[in-house]
Amino acid sequence: MKVTAVLLAAGQGTRMKSALPKVLHPLCGKPMVWHVLEALKQAATETPVVVIGHGADEVKKYLGDSAACVLQEPQLGTGHAAMQAESLLKHKTDLVIVTYADMPLLRGETFARLVETQRLNPGPFSLITVFADDPHGFGRILRNADGTVSAIVEEYVATPEQQKIKELNVGAYCFNADWLWDALHRIPKNEKKGEYYLTDVVELAVKDNLPVQAVVHDDFSETIGINTRVHLAEAEAAMRMRINREHMLNGVSMTDPASTYIDAGVKIGKDTTIMPNTYLHGATEIGEGNVIGPNTIIRDSKIGNHCKVLASVLEGATLEDDVDMGPFARLRKGAHLKSHVHMGNFGEVKDSTLEEGVKMGHFSYIGNAKIGANTNIGAGTVTANYDGENKLPTEIGEDVFIGVDTMLVAPLKLGDGARTGAGAIVTKNVAEDTLVVGMPARPIKKVERRKMKAK
Ligand code: UD1
Ligand code: MG
Repeated sequence: MKVTAVLLAAGQGTRMKSALPKVLHPLCGKPMVWHVLEALKQAATETPVVVIGHGADEVKKYLGDSAACVLQEPQLGTGHAAMQAESLLKHKTDLVIVTYADMPLLRGETFARLVETQRLNPGPFSLITVFADDPHGFGRILRNADGTVSAIVEEYVATPEQQKIKELNVGAYCFNADWLWDALHRIPKNEKKGEYYLTDVVELAVKDNLPVQAVVHDDFSETIGINTRVHLAEAEAAMRMRINREHMLNGVSMTDPASTYIDAGVKIGKDTTIMPNTYLHGATEIGEGNVIGPNTIIRDSKIGNHCKVLASVLEGATLEDDVDMGPFARLRKGAHLKSHVHMGNFGEVKDSTLEEGVKMGHFSYIGNAKIGANTNIGAGTVTANYDGENKLPTEIGEDVFIGVDTMLVAPLKLGDGARTGAGAIVTKNVAEDTLVVGMPARPIKKVERRKMKAK
C-alpha cells in the first residue's frame, strides 16, 4: 500500500515577525520542516510533497531532492493548500497523510499509528486529537452523542460553549486518496476569511454518512504548533529534552541536562559525560568515555575515545583518542590532534596536524603546519603563516623542542630533534638535531636528542 505525506508549508508565518520563512526556523540545529519530514519517514512509503508559497525559493532550495514541491499561489487556506498536491499524486498513492510543517514535535510513531488506524477504518479518513487545558489556539473537536466526530470548529468562530471543549485538532490526518481529491473540491469557502479550511472535510464525511476515526493522543507536548517565537522556544526546550533523554538512555551521562544543548543528529558514545553549558552542533560525532565541558562549544567535529575537552571551542576539528585539551583552547577547521596530544590554555590550531604525543601547553598559534610526534611547543610559539597574500606551510619533525616565544616564519622546515632557544625568530630551515637561537635564528650547536628525551 502506497502512503504519501503532504506537508503544508505555504503560509506566511506572520506571527513570527521574521524575514526567514517560518518552516526554516531552526529547532535544535535543524529547520522545523526537517523534523517533520524525519518523523514522516516512519509512516510514509513515498517521497513527500511539500506545499510551498511564502519564501518558496528559499524553502525549495533547502529541501533539494528530499521532497517534491508544489506552489500554492495565492494562499487560500489549508484546504486549498492540500488541493495543490492533487496534480502530482492523483492515482499514484493509496493513502495521503496531510499535516502542517509548523508541528515539529510529532513523533514518527504517532504518524505510524494514524496510518494504521486509517488502514482499518472503513471511512474516508482518520485524524489525531489531544485533550488539553490550554487550547493553544487549536480547532475544537465536536462529537455526536454517540461519540463519533461531527466537526472541527476553529477557535475564532467557536461559540463560548464550544471554546470550553478540551479535545483539540492536532493537525495530522490520513485520507483515502480518491475520497480526498474529490472532497477538497467540495470544501465551501469560509466567507469571513475568504479561505478554504481543510478541517471542513469532517462535515463532508458526516454528510456522506461515512465514519471519521479519531486517534486520541496522550502526549500534549508532542503537539506544540509553532505560530510565534514564544512557541518556538517552548518547542525547542521540549525537543532538547527529548534528544538529551535519548542520549542518556543510550549510556551518556549529563550533569545537568537542562543546560546541555545538543543538535538533532549528533552522535555520542557510551560512558561519555557531558558537563553543563556545553553545545554540540551540526555533524558532530563523539566516541566513548570522554568528558566534554563544562563551557564547551563543538561544531562539525569528530572526537575519539577517552578525551577531555574543558571550556574550549572546536569547529571542523578531529581529535583521536586520549587527547586532553583546555581550558580555553580553540580548534578551527582542519585541526587534527592525534592520540595523547596535550593542548593547554589559550592555544589555537587551524589546518594543522599534531602527531601523537605533541605537547602544546600555553599561548600558541599553529596554522598550516605539520608537527611530528612527541614534539614540545613552548609557550608563546607562533607560526607566522601568512605573508599578506598566501598561507604558507610549516613542517616540524619528531622530538623537536620549540623554546618559549619562538616565531616560526613560514615556509619553514625543522628536522627531527631540532631545538630553538627562547625568543628565536626562525626564518631558515633547521637541520635535524640542531639548536638555533636569536634573531634571525642561527645554529649554534648539535644537540644530543637522547639526553633530552630521557628527561
Ligand atoms: C490549523 C488548523 C487547526 C489546528 C491547528 C493545529 C485549519 C483550518 N486549522 O490552524 O484546526 O488545530 O492548525 O496547529 O486547518 N498553510 C498553507 N497554505 C495556506 C494556509 C496555511 O500552506 O493557505 C500552512 C501553513 O504554512 C502552516 C499550516 O498550513 O504550516 C497551518 O496553518 P496555520 O495558519 O498555522 O493554521 P492554524 O491557525 O494553526
Ligand atoms: Mg499553526
